[in-house]
Amino acid sequence: MAPYKISVAGTGYVGLCTAAGFASKGYEVIASTHDPEKADKINRGIPPFFEPHLEELLKEAVSDGYLKCEVGRTEAVKKTDITFVAVGTPSQPDGRINLQHIQDCAREIGEALTEKSSYHLVVVKSTVVPGTTQNIVKPILENGSNKSCGKDFGLCMSPEFLREGSAVHDTLNPDRVVIGEHDKTSGDTLHNLSREFYSEELPPIVRTNLPTAELVKYANNAFLATKISFINQIANICEKTSGTDVNIVANAIGLDKRIGSQFLRAGLGYGGSCFPKDVKALIAFSTSLGYDPLIIKAVENVNRAQPYKAVKLAEKALGDLKDKRIAILGLAFKPDTDDIRESTSIKIINRLLENGASVVSYDPAAMTNTKKIFGERADYAPSAIECIKGANCCIVATAWEEFKQIKPRDFIQNMKTPIVIDGRRIYNPEEYSCELDFTAIGLGQ
Ligand code: UGA
Repeated sequence: MAPYKISVAGTGYVGLCTAAGFASKGYEVIASTHDPEKADKINRGIPPFFEPHLEELLKEAVSDGYLKCEVGRTEAVKKTDITFVAVGTPSQPDGRINLQHIQDCAREIGEALTEKSSYHLVVVKSTVVPGTTQNIVKPILENGSNKSCGKDFGLCMSPEFLREGSAVHDTLNPDRVVIGEHDKTSGDTLHNLSREFYSEELPPIVRTNLPTAELVKYANNAFLATKISFINQIANICEKTSGTDVNIVANAIGLDKRIGSQFLRAGLGYGGSCFPKDVKALIAFSTSLGYDPLIIKAVENVNRAQPYKAVKLAEKALGDLKDKRIAILGLAFKPDTDDIRESTSIKIINRLLENGASVVSYDPAAMTNTKKIFGERADYAPSAIECIKGANCCIVATAWEEFKQIKPRDFIQNMKTPIVIDGRRIYNPEEYSCELDFTAIGLGQ
C-alpha cells in the first residue's frame, strides 16, 4: 500500500496524466476540477481530450478505485498528503502569463490547510515564471491557512516535460525530475515520493531552489523552440540554394553528439499550447528585468513567419490564389492530438481565405475543433483522399502517419492540378519527384 495519498488540482494534459500515472502505480489519487461535466467524464474513465493511451490508463484507474475526480479542491486536499498544482497559466496579450487560476487554486488549498493537523506538501507543476511560487503562491497559502511554510506545510516547484501525443509515456518515463524546494523537508518529501514512484527506474533528480526550477522549464522549452527555428532558417536558406536539402543537413548535424538529432525537423513552425506561450512569457519576463533576450526574440520572429512559407510556395506554383481550391492535410498542431491551439494550419487557412482561395481540410482527430473556428467559411472532407479531390494544390501541414501512405499516383488521380507542398517533409523526395506531371515541393529543398 502506497504511503502517500495524492491530490491533483487541474485536469488538463499535465494534471490528468499525473493523476492517472500515480493511480496506475497503486496510489490513491483525487483529481479536482471546477467543471462538473469534466468530473463526471473522468469518473467514467473518459478523458475530456484526445490523448493516446490515456483512456486505457484512466479506465483502469477508475474501475480499480484508485482514481476519482471531485468538484472543488478543498476536500481533495484535506483527504490527501501531497497536492500537485497543474492548473493552466494562459498567455495575456502582452505575453505575460495569467496567474488567476494559480492564485485561485492556492487560495482553496490554503483554506483546506487550515483544517489539517498533519504535514501537507504542495507541489506547483504549472509553468510559472521565476519568483511565482515563492512570492505569489507561498503568501497566499500562508495567509489562507494561518500556517507557516517550511514548518506546518511544505512547498516545491517541479516542472513537467511531457509532450502531447506521448503524454502517458513521458509521464511514466521522464528524462529527469526537477525538484525546486522551499526547504529541505519539502524537497526530501518529493524526492521520497519520486524514489517510491519510479523505484528501479528512478531518473536523474535535480534538486534546486524554487526560482531555478521555474526557469529550467522555460529554458527547456525555449531551447527546443530555438532548435526548431534554427533548422527552419537553414531550410529557408536551402530553398534559395540550388541542390541543397535541409533534411540531409539536419541528419548530418544531428549526428554530432554535441548537437543531437531531436527537434531538428524543419517545417511550418512550432505550435501548440506550450512553445508559443512559453517563449512569449520568457521574452516578457526577461524584458521586465531590463534585459533584451535577442536570441529568444529571433526564435519567435522566425516562427511567426514560417507558416506563411506554405502560402508563398502555393502562390509561386499557382499564381493568384483567388478561387483556387487548396486542400489542407492536417489541422492539429502535431500528430496524435486533436489540439489546434496555435496550430500553423489555422494561420495558413486564415491567410488563404484572406487571399480569396477556397479551402478544404481534413485531419484524423481535429475536425470538430477546427469547424468551431471556421464554420461555413471553409469546407471539410471526411478523408484525406476526399480532401485532395479536385484541388489545385495540397498543403501537408501535420505529419500524421496516415498521410504518409498517400502515393504520388493518389495525388495525380484525384487532384485537379497535382501540386503538393510538403510542409512537414513526410514524403521521400526521390519517390515523389520521379513522377511526370506532378509537382512535389518539400520545404527546405
Ligand atoms: C512541448 C515540450 O516538448 C514538452 O517537453 C513540454 O512539457 C511541453 O511543450 C509543455 O510545455 O507542456 P508539446 O508542445 O506537447 O511539448 O509538443 P512537441 O512535440 O514539443 O511539439 C511542439 C511543436 O513543435 C509542434 O508544433 C511540432 O510540430 C513542432 N516541432 C517539433 C517541429 O516543428 N520540429 C521538430 O523537430 C519538433
